[in-house]
Amino acid sequence: MIENYKPLDKNKRYLITGVAGFIGFHLAKRLLDEDCFVIGLDNLNNYYDVNLKKDRLNIIKQYNKFKFYYADLQDKQALEKIFKENKIEKFIILPEEEKQKISKNSRKKV
Ligand SMILES: NC(=O)c1ccc[n+]([C@@H]2O[C@H](COP(=O)([O-])OP(=O)(O)OC[C@H]3O[C@@H](n4cnc5c(N)ncnc54)[C@H](O)[C@@H]3O)[C@@H](O)[C@H]2O)c1
Repeated sequence: MIENYKPLDKNKRYLITGVAGFIGFHLAKRLLDEDCFVIGLDNLNNYYDVNLKKDRLNIIKQYNKFKFYYADLQDKQALEKIFKENKIEKFIILPEEEKQKISKNSRKKV
């Protein structure tokens, strides 16, 4: 049995950063298949083939409950706009480099 398991809350709005990436795409698609509302952000960097990312986006853009923002997670203005335009309740950060920055900063504060 998995402890602390909480069933998916379908009424929440999810923001997924790195949504065109491997994990972000599959997570977004899974949530959309469950009829959740997903807001996706990605800077479509060229770490690997950008066309693969665009192909993934084209799949999830077909869902009515998906909204995409082409932006960088470091862009404060873009993030403010996203939060202003959407009632976001769950924030999922996937890009590895961004997770490392957050982890480093939070360690500094301790
Ligand atoms: N792929 C795996 O098998 C796997 C397994 C375990 C853990 N993970 C973890 O999951 C996370 C995602 O992995 P992935 O394989 O989906 O990587 P990925 O490179 O396919 O996806 C990352 C996405 O984030 C976007 N991105 C990067 N920096 C950004 C920024 N500053 N602003 C906006 N978008 C940005 C990229 O364009 C890309 O589309 C990573 O933290 C990785 O360590 C992946």
